[in-house]
Amino acid sequence: MLERINLLLEEIKTFKPNNIEEVENFRIKHLSKKGSISELFNEFKTLDGSAKRELGKPLNQLKQITIQKVNELKEEFDTANVQKSGFDLSLPAYPIKHGGRHPLSLVKNEIIGIFNRLGFTISEGPEIEDDWHNFSSLNFPEEHPARDMQDTFFIEKNPDVLLRTHTSSVQAHDMEEHSLPIRCLTPGRVFRNEAISARAHCIFHQIECLYIDKDVSFADLKQCLSYFAKEFFGEKTEIRLRPSYFPFTEPSAEMDVTCSLCGGKGCNVCKGTGWLEILGCGMVDPNVLELNNIDSKVYSGFALGMGIERITMLKYGIKDLRLFFENDIRFLEQFNAGV
Ligand code: DAH
Repeated sequence: MLERINLLLEEIKTFKPNNIEEVENFRIKHLSKKGSISELFNEFKTLDGSAKRELGKPLNQLKQITIQKVNELKEEFDTANVQKSGFDLSLPAYPIKHGGRHPLSLVKNEIIGIFNRLGFTISEGPEIEDDWHNFSSLNFPEEHPARDMQDTFFIEKNPDVLLRTHTSSVQAHDMEEHSLPIRCLTPGRVFRNEAISARAHCIFHQIECLYIDKDVSFADLKQCLSYFAKEFFGEKTEIRLRPSYFPFTEPSAEMDVTCSLCGGKGCNVCKGTGWLEILGCGMVDPNVLELNNIDSKVYSGFALGMGIERITMLKYGIKDLRLFFENDIRFLEQFNAGV
């Protein structure tokens, strides 16, 4: 038996396969249950004690050497394949980086969520508009400065094709397309011919809210504003309304909230006043209702509009508006903890 072991050892040591299939056949021939080495082990079991003592060691060595040889050959062919194909399929994959939401989207979605709870649903309109939707239907007088070339990006002057300067342009679409009562919420991009700086941009985002029904009063507007402010800025937030002017609302107001950073005591964010200006609002001007074929003796409504960039800057203490558009990953990845 020792002779057979040595012969087999010789055969195994000198084995030179041409491909991985030959290695596998070699393994089956010698190491499988019915392979040559297993056969020797079966025979070994029948031997007497002294023969076992003599043959145990060489037989085990034969097995170990064969296993090692098979492993080495397999590895050799694997690396040869990698070198040939240029791919190493055993390399771990690159970790997948999770994307995240843009801070403007996070704030927009939060605002939408709050108004959804009050029964407002989203209604989007076009970014390329005409004079009627952006200005005339909203009661802008012919000579109003907002129609001036300085503010508006005109695509064509006659007939007027322009980039909307505010999401209020969707109000007329809402009144054309929806039956009453109307409870619409419009998030979207708006465009103004402004020099880009830390505080202004030619592209920015607004959210518009329009409610028209019978018996809508200023108290409804105030309640809606107060609910929004407390939900968004915190339960302790107070609001104040300052009289203002917009062609499409009468009366019109601007809403301030108590500064969420100093709690109203005064700090450099609120410039010592304790108040932050958040949005414009008012009761829909009866002229606007009539221009859009709604009977202003039966129906009334309120509207409000706010800039998403401004609110995001206040929420996160961001000082430069341009950061929102540069899309620097180091800036963006700070906002997505837990998303
Ligand atoms: N459209 C106004 C702007 O861009 C914001 C605004 C003010 C919207 C009052 C409203 C409103 O709906 O009632 O400055």
